[in-house]
Amino acid sequence: RRSNMTIGIDKISFQVPNYYLDMTDLANARETDPNKFHIGLGQDQMAINPETQDIVTLGASAAAKILTDEDKKDIDMVIVGTESSTDFSKSAAVIIHNLLDIQPFARSFEIKHACYGGTAALQQAHDYVSLHPDRKVLVIAADIAKYGLNSGGEPTQGCGAVAMLITKEPHILAFNNDSVFYSEDVYDFWRPAGHDYPLVDGHLSNQIYIDSFTRIWEQNKKINQTSSEDYAALTFHLPYTKMGRKALRAIFPEMPEEEQQRLEARYDEAILYSRQVGNLYTGSLYLGLLSLLDNSQLVAGDRVGLFSYGSGAVSEFFSMTLMEDYKKYLTSENNHTLLAQRKRLTIAEYEKMFNEKLPTDGGSHSFSDPTDFAINKIDGDIRYYNK
Ligand code: HMG
Repeated sequence: RRSNMTIGIDKISFQVPNYYLDMTDLANARETDPNKFHIGLGQDQMAINPETQDIVTLGASAAAKILTDEDKKDIDMVIVGTESSTDFSKSAAVIIHNLLDIQPFARSFEIKHACYGGTAALQQAHDYVSLHPDRKVLVIAADIAKYGLNSGGEPTQGCGAVAMLITKEPHILAFNNDSVFYSEDVYDFWRPAGHDYPLVDGHLSNQIYIDSFTRIWEQNKKINQTSSEDYAALTFHLPYTKMGRKALRAIFPEMPEEEQQRLEARYDEAILYSRQVGNLYTGSLYLGLLSLLDNSQLVAGDRVGLFSYGSGAVSEFFSMTLMEDYKKYLTSENNHTLLAQRKRLTIAEYEKMFNEKLPTDGGSHSFSDPTDFAINKIDGDIRYYNK
């Protein structure tokens, strides 16, 4: 399945809502030592969304930052990886396709397996472009991670979206066609129909995550004949930033100390954004990738390893290679500003925002959130977005 054509991420951006909760405030409110959240989980802030901002709003906003009119003519598919769908039938992708004015003769659909959905979308995009090299695919990984107030998972919530444009001859990163996959039917985190929040066995989920990584890492070494030295950085799905660090450290015994320090330094660069956002499920791995690209000094030709994990459990390890002058094609300034300009919520504001739900009475209700693509009306159970 190896091909000589370069295919990969031509553009990448992200969006978070304009509100966050400081983890010290949450710790104090829950009578917990703040160090448990800042050090024990590795989280400093958590992105919070008002009811008027959903995966469509976040996904469309992320993509709008990178798409030109030319791109909109060239896109053949819009794929949304998510586990926060608001509809069992209609996909968020077709709404985003409309909001962004993408040419009409396109496929639009949603794809799901817990946090793995973003990677499933990305790989599907790769396969399509390899068959149709002059066309482009828009991949969006968008989620709202909620476990409930006062729940064990509360400090590992978050939300946001990452958008990626997949093309041939990409400007940022090229696929190396070296994916290794692993599936194991397990109940560590799942959300049966009708449940607002996931059911989760937190400690089991940590264990399965680490076991999946070490297994897939061994398989990768065998199949692709690589070792840690072949990777300038390893990036991980980040449900909270300590999680990936634990998985990384699980393979430390097989490498020299300088190698451990090198990979841990890159890891620290890859988690800067997630420390301020929390879990965005499908988007978490890619927010980590974006953080690494924006905040490290990696150079063209460097190979980045990506570990994608979706509870339940499906995981994939693959690598991508950095392109010449990739830094020029990033929106690093904007990414820093986006995080820095958010409003800090009090605990009371957070709890109020958390409990607000869009009406489901079928009636007509208006909202006044001026944010790009925010919901401005719900009528007959249809959400209407700012355009
Ligand atoms: P918990 O029981 O609240 O916390 O659950 P804990 O007691 O395990 O402590 C957490 C860490 O804080 C520990 O560090 C403590 O030692 C440390 P570790 O030993 O593990 O390295 N700690 C402190 N450190 C400094 N000062 C202190 C202090 N106190 C304690 N004073 C848990 C934590 C993550 C399990 C919980 O929040 C949870 O259930 N979260 C949701 C599930 C989750 O995120 N799982 C991650 C793997 S599964 C995954 O990634 C998939 C997912 O994204 C979903 C999908 O695929 O769709 C979740």
